[in-house]
Amino acid sequence: MSADRLKIIPRAASTPQDTDLAAFWMPFTDNRYFKSTPRLLASASGMHYFTPEGRKILDATAGLWCVNAGHGREKITEAIREQAGVLDFAPTFQLGHPKPFELASKLVGIMPAGLDRVFFTNSGSESADTALKMALAYHRARGEQSRVRLIGRQRGYHGTNFGGTSVGGIGGNRRGFGAQVWGVDHLTHTHGGATSFTRGMQAPNADLAGELEDLVALHGSETIAAVIVEPVAGSTGVLVPPRGYLDRLRTITRKHGILLIFDEVITGFGRLGSATAAEFFGVTPDILTLAKGLTNGAAPMGAVVASREVHDTVVESAPPGIEFFHGYTYSGHPLAAAAGVASLEVYAEEGLFARAARLAPIWEEAMHSLADARHVTDIRNIGLVAGIELAPREGAPGGRGAEVFRRCFDDGLLIRVTGDIIALSPPLIIEEAQIGEIVERIRTTLETVE
Ligand SMILES: Cc1ncc(COP(=O)(O)O)c(C=O)c1O
Repeated sequence: MSADRLKIIPRAASTPQDTDLAAFWMPFTDNRYFKSTPRLLASASGMHYFTPEGRKILDATAGLWCVNAGHGREKITEAIREQAGVLDFAPTFQLGHPKPFELASKLVGIMPAGLDRVFFTNSGSESADTALKMALAYHRARGEQSRVRLIGRQRGYHGTNFGGTSVGGIGGNRRGFGAQVWGVDHLTHTHGGATSFTRGMQAPNADLAGELEDLVALHGSETIAAVIVEPVAGSTGVLVPPRGYLDRLRTITRKHGILLIFDEVITGFGRLGSATAAEFFGVTPDILTLAKGLTNGAAPMGAVVASREVHDTVVESAPPGIEFFHGYTYSGHPLAAAAGVASLEVYAEEGLFARAARLAPIWEEAMHSLADARHVTDIRNIGLVAGIELAPREGAPGGRGAEVFRRCFDDGLLIRVTGDIIALSPPLIIEEAQIGEIVERIRTTLETVE
């Protein structure tokens, strides 16, 4: 590839110098393709991104399921600015500073009852691994050292650290990276045998959660520490659980003394019309992971919210000294914590979770109006999330999805694709007219794609 192809020369004054694209090894990116045909974002406001050339892009993905209150929220920006001027960094190992305490207290105010102890991380991946370690520490503290197995689910995504990769169920994310964490098993994903074009949850056609009983019979409950699932699987194409599935998982985990972890990195902060999916589905896990919307995407931060029982067991059974040998230099970072406090305030002041709930039926109607659009084989939705599945090209799975993504972007719409599934998750501030715009742009784009 020539050096010239690695450079782009933006026309707008917002990025005055050439952008050299070579050095940044981009995550989850076709680096060679991107660097030959870059698509850059330069700024953002409200529902839109802007390219360096000044093109306006409607954001139908809240960035990456992050920006639930929309882009460039002044209150959040100002909180970060102010905090940076007061305290740039302070450790939270054996020391403290006010912001993460304030954020933790505020956060538990919107968590399901009983989940009221918060451990801060810097990402969803770190939250997943922290939650798994917390579960192991809990059982050890209770004298059940044999509980070391972790159960995930096929098509699950829990980030890219070793624990999350291991319990995750995406072949491509796992295959390249060795044997990973020992002692992991997986439940079947919740999309097997699902009917097409379902709205919200569908009636169960198999006892998928009951498979956990099979794993208990296989391994012995005394070896299983935790089950981790996304209440709604996002990254593998919006897989909504069948009715009763999560309740049944809760019942079986409780029966066998297994901890239940909900990975709410994308479902947290109003995505389904409630603060958490746990609240939406009425099922409370023992541990719940968060990230993304915690700071409205404005600063990297994750959180793991544990039940009082999990926390107290680990903390109170330990001898004097550090109780949980785990943490990150940036756990509770002042700038991120300030962004978190401001984000929670924006969500509350603007009633954004309730807004998502109000918009959900309109969103559902709009999404399903694409049922007759070209290439569409399935549509599923819940809250302000939708998955639109396209027929794959013969011998080239993912090719059609990738082309739709690029064409939509070039046409002024940011969507997310996973293989040949379009996943949509707009900021919760979206207007009805913009929902219509998303649908129209997708329909038009699908017409032009072979
Ligand atoms: C359910 C879930 N868990 C974990 C993660 C990983 O989060 P991060 O990319 O912040 O590490 C994601 C990211 O999309 C996610 O959807």
